[in-house]
Amino acid sequence: MNEIRPLTVAQTLSRLALIGVALLAVIAAFAYAGGWLSPARLTQTKMVAAIQAGIGDHPGFRRAHAKGMCIAGWFDSSGAAVPWSKAAVFAPGRVPLIGRVALASGLPFQSDASVPVRSMALRFMPSDGAEWRTGMNDIPVFVVNTAAAFYQQLVASKPDPASGKPDPAAMTAFLSRHPETARAFGLIGMHPPAAGFAGDTFNSLNTFLLVNAAGTRVPVRWAVVPLQPAVVQASSPDDDSAAPPKKNRLFDDLIVQVHEHPLRWRLVITLGRPQDPTADATLPWPEDRQRVDAGTVTIDQVSSEDNGPCGSINFDPLVLPPGIEASDDPLLSARSSVYARSFTLRSGETALKPPSAITPRDAQRVVTP
Ligand code: HEM
Repeated sequence: MNEIRPLTVAQTLSRLALIGVALLAVIAAFAYAGGWLSPARLTQTKMVAAIQAGIGDHPGFRRAHAKGMCIAGWFDSSGAAVPWSKAAVFAPGRVPLIGRVALASGLPFQSDASVPVRSMALRFMPSDGAEWRTGMNDIPVFVVNTAAAFYQQLVASKPDPASGKPDPAAMTAFLSRHPETARAFGLIGMHPPAAGFAGDTFNSLNTFLLVNAAGTRVPVRWAVVPLQPAVVQASSPDDDSAAPPKKNRLFDDLIVQVHEHPLRWRLVITLGRPQDPTADATLPWPEDRQRVDAGTVTIDQVSSEDNGPCGSINFDPLVLPPGIEASDDPLLSARSSVYARSFTLRSGETALKPPSAITPRDAQRVVTP
């Protein structure tokens, strides 16, 4: 039998030193991930802090797209996307989905009229396949093409503590360094929003790749295009009468419409050509690109995010099924990382969160428009 000998002092010290080194390595890894070793590095924490510096603290809410409501329904796939993607969601048939419509701002109680950009996020849940999450905005291109530019834009738009307003000179300086953002604002200005969520087209903005059964990849962007008429908003919905402004007008309208009958959007996938930009969401693709009508999204339910199914979903754009992949667009990994931080923060703040702007009662009520 082997004799068990006590360790010498030198052996004990060297083992303790090894444990110490391992602990230091773990601490250093956390410090690196948290950005403590390189304060100049843009981290998810720094990005969320910059967002909050402009809008203040709103515990329990998403750090962007804070005012929203859950939607639910299904997707009827036409099968037309199968030649380009092996994703189960594109096989002919019906797939249930949960989603969320929102205003893009980080302020959870803003009037609907004051926020120009709206969003629709969807989570497709094929019964025998991997799910697909996508968040889309109703603008034709995004305003920046890198996470660093997004951060610099947040810094440039931060309100001056003295005036409470952003410094116009800071924004002018930002735009002169980022002509792509100035160009994007021009394109966005040429696409006025529809009168409401029901008439809006929502765009993926970022480029993704579809992968088919043979392994062939094609760059794509997608949009949901309304089947109900897209009435263009002629004026701000709140300023057309002497009546008190209806803060939740867009959400109230959607609740009424969905209670009357289901709303439908076509899922249109645009196929890129090799020369089309995949890593720059500020650049549109030429209008003549081939479009595939992948099927119809139907929304027949609305609910408050306080008791509905979307409140706890992180619409991370990188939750993708086999058959859809990320492109080289740098915004995708930035979004994934920042959304995770926002999700972690809001999930830990549920006890502090006030009721959302659209309450469970609002979502059930048939509101008089
Ligand atoms: C670096 C650029 C971006 C940053 C830092 C950013 C940041 C955020 C944050 C913090 C949230 C809240 C996430 C949550 O708590 O669940 C959010 C939501 C959202 N973002 Fe972005 N975003 C960026 C780019 C984009 C782009 C390019 C799109 C393109 C369509 C987009 C669409 C959306 C949508 C639709 C939502 C709402 C999802 C929901 O309803 O839960 N974002 N964003």
